[in-house]
Amino acid sequence: MTLFSRLEAPAPDAIIALMQRFAADDRPHRVDLGVGVYRDAAGRTPVMAAVAAAEARMLAAQETKGYLGLAGDPRFIAAMEGLLLGASPGDRAAAVATPGGSGAIRQALALVRMANPGAEVWIGRPSWPNHAAIADELGMGVRLHSYLGADGRADAAAMLAELGQARAGDVVVLHASCHNPSGADLDASEWAAVADLFAARGLLPLVDVAYQGFGDGVEEDVAGLRLLAARLPEVLVAASGSKSFGLYRERVGLVLALCDGGRAARATGGALQSLNRKNFAFPPDHGARVVTTILEDPVLRADWQAELDAMRHRVRDLRAALAAALREATGTARFDFLTGQRGMFSLLGLSPAQVERLRAEHAIYLVPDGRANIAGLSETTLPQLAVAIAEAVRAEG
Ligand code: LMR
Repeated sequence: MTLFSRLEAPAPDAIIALMQRFAADDRPHRVDLGVGVYRDAAGRTPVMAAVAAAEARMLAAQETKGYLGLAGDPRFIAAMEGLLLGASPGDRAAAVATPGGSGAIRQALALVRMANPGAEVWIGRPSWPNHAAIADELGMGVRLHSYLGADGRADAAAMLAELGQARAGDVVVLHASCHNPSGADLDASEWAAVADLFAARGLLPLVDVAYQGFGDGVEEDVAGLRLLAARLPEVLVAASGSKSFGLYRERVGLVLALCDGGRAARATGGALQSLNRKNFAFPPDHGARVVTTILEDPVLRADWQAELDAMRHRVRDLRAALAAALREATGTARFDFLTGQRGMFSLLGLSPAQVERLRAEHAIYLVPDGRANIAGLSETTLPQLAVAIAEAVRAEG
């Protein structure tokens, strides 16, 4: 048997499988509420105006595409640290650019494994499928803890009770805002309780910041992260520029480690650069440079923030409209929880059979766990979804 003929293709995760299935569907009215991308009223995922302006500027001014260092552009790192933390973290920070948020998660976990080979990775139930998949690929043990309560809100008490079993030096993946897939976020007092437990037990947070600006605001969405950064000696952050800058395919990411002092930060920076070198050598630059150009220029930055604010308001309005349409279509308050959640996603509480019914009969694609990308709805597709859900609920309870 030849080498590659031994291979079995691993099954793609549910989100990727759905993207493939949707691409193969030729029904003209098909509606993609699977993968998390923002869509405008016309159903497009727009290039943000500040991004287009930054790219035009870069095209006119850029004289070389020679290599940068293994960490990427230091100006990108400084700009992202400011965006995430609100101020420079000084000499306690180590950071490198990565290919997207997934690249940041991978490098962050690889760093944890390097520092503590026995560390287990704690992930809430439910979470984005790639969290556990990356940890597993790295050969790290994955432990699941409760997160989402039956009422559609984060159940911080259950989460904290179960994290009581974690060992010092274990890493816990937290969603900064816009929890994926549930839209249920921790509130300020719950973040404070997380900080207390992590400090008491020596747990390391890995905060995934993929939707900054889509929840309550650019600053508000990192308030929990900032609290942890102020309270804990060590914090890991995996940030993505995909959604907040609409730079999905450009792969903009950053892993940031806040360390216990400058000496640890220098060693950690070296470790992160070495991990970059061995995984892909130099991180991609184009999207990172777009982000830097925007964040460093007050006019572009204000324009970017205004457009992001408008996107957030649109998603909020879609949430409210969907809850209202479902109230009307089902004659129940079953879906009212949608308005209390934040960001692109919510779990609609549909069975896999109901989700399949939506796909087969209405060409509406949701992830089989019932996750809907609310940010993918339009004024046309929203009523269609409400009617289809009401029908599926009536048919199957
Ligand atoms: C999602 O959850 O749909 C996005 O984060 C895209 C992805 O890579 O899965």
